[in-house]
Amino acid sequence: MRIVLISLVFTLLYAEDSFITPFEYAKMLYESPRGVGCNLCHGSKGRGKTIARYKKRKELKELKAPDITSVDFKTFYKKLNSRKKRSAMPTYFLTRDEIKALYFYIKKVNE
Ligand code: HEC
Repeated sequence: MRIVLISLVFTLLYAEDSFITPFEYAKMLYESPRGVGCNLCHGSKGRGKTIARYKKRKELKELKAPDITSVDFKTFYKKLNSRKKRSAMPTYFLTRDEIKALYFYIKKVNE
């Protein structure tokens, strides 16, 4: 009986532990979708940031990741599904649900 009770408690605790909210899931995705987190370039809240500064023909140049907080879902989805060659942004292979979660996260974190 005791053993049954103990394992029941463990099962409950474990279940509690492995449960994550949609927000937590989305945050996880945003910070590490297939390795390279969006946050590395777009900042922790998607407000954009400067990725690198360099000189080209003595001119100072900046590589910036844009603010993605007010992009509409269609643009957002298209961007994450396009395979443009000359883009500084990596190509991801995400499902529609993952893209939705990312979109949700950026909206939520800027509320
Ligand atoms: C290595 C840096 C880098 C990473 C990582 C990155 N991006 Fe980007 N992103 C950029 C740059 C630079 C641009 C602008 C140039 C372009 O469109 O390719 C951009 C453009 C975008 C745009 C288009 C914005 C607009 O106004 O049209 C969206 C949406 C976007 N990124 C979302 C994401 C999401 C979501 C992730 C994570 C899955 C991500 N990016 C990861 C660098 C990055």
